[in-house]
Amino acid sequence: MSAGRRINLKQARMLLDKDFVISEIDKRIYGSFIEHLGRAVYGGIYEPGHSEADEQGFRRDVMELVKELQVPIVRYPGGNFVSGYNWEDGVGPKEDRPKRLELAWKMIETNEVGTNEFADWAKKVNTEVMMAVNLGTRGIDAARNLVEYCNHPGGTYWSDLRKSHGYQEPHKIKTWCLGNEMDGPWQIGHMNAEDYGKKALEAAKVMKWVDDSIELVSCGSSSTGMKTFPEWEATSLDITYEAVDYVSLHQYYGNPNNDTESYLAKSLDMDHFIKTVISTCDYIKAKKRSKKTLMLSFDEWNVWYHSHSADKQLKPWQVAPPQLEDVYNFEDALLVGCMLITMLKHSDRVKMACMAQLVNVIAPIMTSNGGGAWKQTIFYPYLHTSVYGRGKALQPVISSDKYDSKEFTDVPYLESVSVYDEESEAVTIFAVNRSLTDELHLDCDVRSFAGYQLVEHIVLENDDLKAVNTEQCEQVKPHSNGNALLQDGKIEATLAKASWNVIRLAKK
Ligand code: AHR
Repeated sequence: MSAGRRINLKQARMLLDKDFVISEIDKRIYGSFIEHLGRAVYGGIYEPGHSEADEQGFRRDVMELVKELQVPIVRYPGGNFVSGYNWEDGVGPKEDRPKRLELAWKMIETNEVGTNEFADWAKKVNTEVMMAVNLGTRGIDAARNLVEYCNHPGGTYWSDLRKSHGYQEPHKIKTWCLGNEMDGPWQIGHMNAEDYGKKALEAAKVMKWVDDSIELVSCGSSSTGMKTFPEWEATSLDITYEAVDYVSLHQYYGNPNNDTESYLAKSLDMDHFIKTVISTCDYIKAKKRSKKTLMLSFDEWNVWYHSHSADKQLKPWQVAPPQLEDVYNFEDALLVGCMLITMLKHSDRVKMACMAQLVNVIAPIMTSNGGGAWKQTIFYPYLHTSVYGRGKALQPVISSDKYDSKEFTDVPYLESVSVYDEESEAVTIFAVNRSLTDELHLDCDVRSFAGYQLVEHIVLENDDLKAVNTEQCEQVKPHSNGNALLQDGKIEATLAKASWNVIRLAKK
């Protein structure tokens, strides 16, 4: 390092203690999402005839990447799609399934994949299904029938229908979303918060009467930008509060003005969003004198903006068109890392979260039809947190140099959280250096972890913030040559400018 660069070094100090516990992390915070949209299902997870297809038509190469991510739960089948979906179209003999005009995304839905096939795929990739019901064109009847079809053991019309479709055992789907983004005027069957609350409450009642072991998610706002936020939450939860277990949050960010300093600070907006939803839930709890604390399901989050203009050019009514195919660059991976850290910092209330989505559609995994499958830049922070971020989230005490950007003030250069896995005696620090120009010197007190040693310091860095991965070339991938050193209860590390870092410790 030259003397000149040392002058520009940014500084951050951090204190970690095994007793500063935020919460046990619910592994479902590392969930994802597959919607019947674009090439997520057809050409993504499912491509019969592909050399990697298994006996059901699922791509093995994609399954391997999903398994590598250790995704614990996948939301399905939408998204906006679900608000016009007849689930009955997707079960039974494939040759009898109708092709439908799909109005949310203006494509043709062939229904070759439906509830049972998706449950099979989920098993193959070791994940659970988070099922959304249609509260747009449908309602309580279709919802209760779907719970009966999926979860009732047998001896009734819908459960026996499932059996006749070749599925003797119930799918035992535990988590159910009561509609999708019903606050949005673009949603099929959009309604106001009070109407939604009433409809969701009635659906919740009967769904739980069919199977009282299920958990339900009430629709929150589609983003912080909605005019009705957070009144939507207050009004709808006033009605659904006692019948549901979670409220949903959705948020996507982008960098259309190429203002990366502001872009990397967008996780502060996410933090504010989460805090506002928590306050709103707790206000309803207080108003109702309820004993129940509502948890949060951040069931759509990601970067989404690269594909907006390409999508406007697409012709309608195609089968599996290349919709929402954002090609992610290096800076997107940094923001995704900051978003994951932000959710972990709220893991006492954010119990589930879904990176939207998983394959091809705003996704960490891309495929080409008939070709390969590869990792986008955002794959890596998702992989590292999912694999090393199991256990208890620890609240680090941080003091970091800060900056002001066009949109945010007092942005800490260091964004960080740590996870302690008592069982495997491992501690992992996730850290982003937001500085685009300077290295960050990190000084971290870990005295409460006596007898621990450094395992590795993984770094995702690139001189080009706009570098991308393609089928042919992986420009953005991590290395393990970070310079973290652990000595006398202290970690010292230089975090490269604009970098994602994973510092792993384990008991000797
Ligand atoms: O994930 C893409 C879309 O974004 C979903 O269908 C919708 O719920 C959200 O607006």
